[in-house]
Amino acid sequence: MSEKTLSSMKIIPATASDYNELMSISKGIYRGVDPLPFRYHEWLADPQRKMFVAKSEGKVVGFLLFVLVDGGRTAVSDSLRVAPWMRGHGIARAMQQFCLDNLRSNHPEVSRILFVEASETPQRELTQYQHIHSKAIISISIPYEQMEEKIKLLEGRLEGVGGRRPVVALSPSEVLCLFEDPCTTEGLLPKGLLIHSWIPYSTHRSNLEMLLKRGVVWFYSQHSDSVSECVTSPRSSDASEICIGTNITKSSTSDYFTAQQEPFAPNPVPLPHSSSQPSPLARTSCGFLSLGCSPFPVPLGQGIYCFDIDLFGTDPVSAQTHVLHQLIEMQRVLPAGGGVVCYLFAEKSLRAELTQFCQGLEPFYEVTEQHVLETESYTVIPKSLM
Ligand SMILES: CC(C)(COP(=O)(O)OP(=O)(O)OC[C@H]1O[C@@H](n2cnc3c(N)ncnc32)[C@H](O)[C@@H]1OP(=O)(O)O)[C@@H](O)C(=O)NCCC(=O)NCCS
Repeated sequence: MSEKTLSSMKIIPATASDYNELMSISKGIYRGVDPLPFRYHEWLADPQRKMFVAKSEGKVVGFLLFVLVDGGRTAVSDSLRVAPWMRGHGIARAMQQFCLDNLRSNHPEVSRILFVEASETPQRELTQYQHIHSKAIISISIPYEQMEEKIKLLEGRLEGVGGRRPVVALSPSEVLCLFEDPCTTEGLLPKGLLIHSWIPYSTHRSNLEMLLKRGVVWFYSQHSDSVSECVTSPRSSDASEICIGTNITKSSTSDYFTAQQEPFAPNPVPLPHSSSQPSPLARTSCGFLSLGCSPFPVPLGQGIYCFDIDLFGTDPVSAQTHVLHQLIEMQRVLPAGGGVVCYLFAEKSLRAELTQFCQGLEPFYEVTEQHVLETESYTVIPKSLM
C-alpha cells in the first residue's frame, strides 16, 4: 500500500452498517474466540466505548475501539484489527495515532492510556509501552456433553488437596463494600487493577457500578487459616449491612439490583450468600476474589461460547476452588449443545498448580500471558495550544 493510499485512508466513527464488512476482515482473529461479532451492536450503543473504522476506497480495512473507565480518566485501547490483506503498511499505527489525537481533542480529562496485550505480541510492539502487570492465561475447551464429567473430575481433584475453601457469591452492595477496604485493593489487586475480560479497571466506584450491570459473577473467599478480627456484631437480615475487616459498613443495595442483565447473565444461586450465613467477608485477610463473565458466543463454531474467569489472589487452593465454582455457575446458564472455551487469568505464581488442576481438560492454547501496558508519556495538550 502506498503512502498516498495511507494518506487517503479515512478513520471515522464506526456505525451499525459497518458490521458485515468488519466481520469479513475479522475472520479467524483470536483463533475464533473474538468477542466483537457478538458484542458489536451492544458496544456501539455504550457511551463509554468509542469505536472507529479505517476505510480505504470506501471499504472497511481496520477497526479500533477505546473504553473510557475510571470515571473518564483512563482510556483502554481494545479490539484492534486490520484486514489481513492490508497488514504491514502502517494502518494499525495510523489508527492508534488517530485515537490519541481524538482523545486529546474530545476527552481532555483522560490522563492515562492502557492497553492489554497477549503474549504473542512481538517485543517490538511492547517497547512503546510501560509494562504495568502480567498474568498467566490457562485456556481450556469443554464440549457441552462433557461438562458434568469434567466438573466432577475437578471436584475430586480439589478433595485431594484438602477440599474447597468456603466461597460466597457477593451481592452488589457487598462488592462495593469490599472495595472500600484498602486491603482488597492493595492486597488483592496488583497495581490496584481489577482486570476483567481484558479491560483493566481501577476500583473507582463508577467502574464497579458498570461491572455490576454486566452480569459478572463475583465470588469471594477467605483462607481457612485466617483469623477473624471482625467485630462479631449481630448480622442484619438486611443484606445492605455487611462486615469487612473490622468495619461494619452500610451501603445501599437497591440501586444495583435493578441492573440490566445480559442475554446469558448468570444469576448465582447455588452458593451460600454472605448475608445468609457467617461470612468469610467478616475476616481480615485479603482473601481471594474471582470474576466470571457472562458466557458469550464466539465465531469458533456453532454453539461455542467463551467464558473468562479473572482470579485475584495467590493461594493455589483458593484459585482452584474459585475456578470450580465459576465453572459450576457458568454451566447453569450455558445453552445446551456446543461447548465453551474458558480462559483463566491468574497470577503467574499460580500457573503450575492451575495447569495441573486442569489436566484432563482439553487445552485451548491461544495465548499464555496477558500484559497490561501503559502508553509512555501521554500528555494532554491544552485546546488553546492546538
Ligand atoms: C496487529 C495488527 C493490528 C497490526 O496491524 P498492521 O496494520 O499490520 O500494523 P502496522 O503496519 O501499523 O505496523 C505495526 C504497528 O501497529 C501496532 N501494532 C502492531 N501489532 C500490534 C499489537 N499486537 N497490538 C497493538 N498494536 C500493535 C503498533 O503501533 C505498531 O507500530 P510500531 O511499528 O511503531 O511499533 C494486525 O496484524 C492484526 O489485525 N492482527 C490480528 C488481530 C490482532 O492480533 N490484534 C492485536 C491485539 S488487540
